[in-house]
Amino acid sequence: MKRAIYPGSFDPVTVGHIDIITRSSCIFDEVIIGVLNNSQKAPLFTAEERVRMLTEVTRELPNVRAEAFSGLLVDFAKKEEATVIIRGLRAVTDFEYELQMSQTNRQICPEVDTLFLTANVEYSYVSSSTAKEIASFGGDVSAFVPPLVAQEMKKRFSI
Ligand code: PNS
Repeated sequence: MKRAIYPGSFDPVTVGHIDIITRSSCIFDEVIIGVLNNSQKAPLFTAEERVRMLTEVTRELPNVRAEAFSGLLVDFAKKEEATVIIRGLRAVTDFEYELQMSQTNRQICPEVDTLFLTANVEYSYVSSSTAKEIASFGGDVSAFVPPLVAQEMKKRFSI
């Protein structure tokens, strides 16, 4: 059984994330989406809300599930008995941070490897932060996030 972790903040999940999740689910027997519960950040959605949205938007992928985690990613990977971390690369600008993160993770836990999937060109401009900025000004985020998430963002920003 080849199990992979796809970690991130997912605040909120975007169409780009869903593309990486879908493609990963074809490569691995099981994909666990690891939602970082970071007490130092003030996210738009709680970790529970992010897990719920991810579970909903991936419900047609039977070998995918979402779980919140805190602490070190490699510890979460070990706990879930996953040997691979998946990360998406949208542009060269992502690479430096991702390279450093994968090398750090490999240094502290050589048994877990990182696999990069390149984003589809149609999603290369998509990010959670851009979607949040657009939604905060009442803009249309339908090209960035699934409809359910767009609705939740609208509600959150109208409070
Ligand atoms: O979606 P993001 O914010 O780019 O995801 C970043 C994430 C969650 C993968 C990264 O911050 C992470 O792994 N955090 C857990 C803490 C950790 O393991 N740090 C050491 C590796 S740099």
